[in-house]
Amino acid sequence: MEKVHVNLNYSKYFSYDILIDHNFVDNELRGIANYNRAHLVVDKNVCELYNSFFVGDIFILNSSEHNKNLNTVYEILNFMKNRKALRNDTLFAVGGGIVGDVAGFAASIYMRGINFIQVPTTLLSMVDSSVGGKTGVNLGDVKNLVGSFYQPKKVLIDTLFLTTLPEDEFKSGLAEVIKYALLFDKDLYEFLISNKTDVVKRREDVIIKIIKRCCELKAKVVEEDETEQGIRKLLNLGHTFGHAIEVDSDHEIKHGIAVAKGIYLEALFAYEKGMIGKNVLDDIEKIFEIYDYDLNYQVRDFTLFINAIGSDKKAMSSGIVLALTSDVGSGIIKSGIDLDSIKKFFEGARWMRPQ
Ligand code: GLY
Repeated sequence: MEKVHVNLNYSKYFSYDILIDHNFVDNELRGIANYNRAHLVVDKNVCELYNSFFVGDIFILNSSEHNKNLNTVYEILNFMKNRKALRNDTLFAVGGGIVGDVAGFAASIYMRGINFIQVPTTLLSMVDSSVGGKTGVNLGDVKNLVGSFYQPKKVLIDTLFLTTLPEDEFKSGLAEVIKYALLFDKDLYEFLISNKTDVVKRREDVIIKIIKRCCELKAKVVEEDETEQGIRKLLNLGHTFGHAIEVDSDHEIKHGIAVAKGIYLEALFAYEKGMIGKNVLDDIEKIFEIYDYDLNYQVRDFTLFINAIGSDKKAMSSGIVLALTSDVGSGIIKSGIDLDSIKKFFEGARWMRPQ
């Protein structure tokens, strides 16, 4: 079993381990809702595929961006109330990023906070969203507008779940892996370039290595800047344009796929504005091309799209903040970007990737 520790300096109590292995959570989860002070929120598909793990009274969540909202949080809170959940009980989130975000938020406000354990079942949630304590829901068409920083007590990553993960979900998660490589780790970038066949085949040791590396990188960032006052903003690479793509496509485009497009389009914008060099734009294109991502995006509703960029919670009163890569493995933050310049960038046919 691989282990990554997230060390939050202010308190040992809030520090936690990320455990990574193949085929071990069955032991942790089976029957737990019946005999332990544990409550489970489980993704509907995961529940169907691994139904022997989930005996007893559990909350099944049909995960979609459309029900990542306060109504679902309310239903989870009622579920716990009906089960007479107590303050030292534990809520488990078993699923992808949506399950983790929604259940984590419910755990953070039920009785002002109960224990929370993440069991991510998608690549995206394994390498990114289950680690670091961001929880929350969408409000109207603004993504993740309501939420909290609330660290889990543990993250249990079982790569068994990846054996049944659909291809588009895997590709969505891989975009976040590429994000970590572009921001922090040139070796990981080179590894991904040289090992495409094993990565897309999901070879177990290769996937565990990648997940562990992303968790280590994320742990370092979260240890330094848990509440995103500085370095953690880098993790928003591709997310400012990416979130707008999600909203504009009415969530038909999955989060990671939108992030891949966002990383490329933000880099193209930054290159045109002289913020980054052509070499890094080429490196970004290269890796996404190797993994067959379509980097184009045709905006459907221009006003909605631009408003989504302007109302993104990462925007400051002084302008839009973009995370960028100045070179593979080196992230930088650019703030005070004027929304009008982004609007001009997307006007006409500039959203199309040059052929
Ligand atoms: N997903 C980005 C972060 O956790 O900060």
